[in-house]
Amino acid sequence: MIVPIKQIISKAKQKKYAVGAFNTSNLEITLAIVRAAAKMRSPVIVQTSESAIKYSNLETLFGMITNIANTVGKKVPIAIHLDHGKNMSVVKDCINIGYNSVHMDASEKDYATNVRMSRQAAQLGHRKKIWVQAELGSILGKEGMVKLETGEINMKDLMTDPYQAQDFVEKTKVDTLAVSVGTIHGSFKGVERVDHRLLKKIASLVNIPLVLHGGSGLNTGTFKKSIKNGISVINIDTNLRLAFKKALKNSIKESEDLIDPRKILNPSTEAMQKEVEKMIKIFGSQNKA
Ligand code: G3H
Ligand code: ZN
Repeated sequence: MIVPIKQIISKAKQKKYAVGAFNTSNLEITLAIVRAAAKMRSPVIVQTSESAIKYSNLETLFGMITNIANTVGKKVPIAIHLDHGKNMSVVKDCINIGYNSVHMDASEKDYATNVRMSRQAAQLGHRKKIWVQAELGSILGKEGMVKLETGEINMKDLMTDPYQAQDFVEKTKVDTLAVSVGTIHGSFKGVERVDHRLLKKIASLVNIPLVLHGGSGLNTGTFKKSIKNGISVINIDTNLRLAFKKALKNSIKESEDLIDPRKILNPSTEAMQKEVEKMIKIFGSQNKA
């Protein structure tokens, strides 16, 4: 059931586990996420990017997620969140329609502009008791990316500066902070990038819950250590896309005569549900509903 996100994230921070924030853009992904949360008795965050909103439209997506959360997921706490809102208008639209949380991502702007936009978003959100996430430092890549196209980049230049993070949170009054500690959006074999020393330092200076973006492809040990070192929310998108595609390929290959979209897509929905269940177990949010 939809609840204020504060209830979900504050408990995770206090009890030292992480809540998964999973991206959706359609019915099948939403069902997979909420069914997994219900089965595992876990809190969960269902999030939509700007491009998901463009694909399905805000009213449809918001209505579908809240309906599924309040029926299929009625026994577990669920929050709906805007992921990577790059401009103020989408942030305002999501606040107005009733999201529980919005991500004002002005991380590509200069520091002063990021502070100004994040503070403005926080003020708008707080009037409606909505939490606001901001981002400091750059998280490269793109959800769904499986090959690194960035060449040799100096990640150090893009990572969150701990002292700047402290100043940023004081000035903006945001509720959660997306940090750049080495992860990249997408899933890349053999890439283990979390800088745990940096993460620990940020967590020691910043009191609000920290969010790890680009969670797909990380191994269990990295997740657990990141949670131990201060992460309370972990964003996952590409892992679900990969599970969807793999199951869809098999489904079409094995039953070429199927023409009912529900039957063709059912194995993909089940595969995504399993993936969410796996993440919930690793993040430690099982039985925390
Ligand atoms: O904002 C969404 C995420 O950070 C997802 O990243 O595709 O690497 O799981 P991912
Ligand atoms: Zn992200």
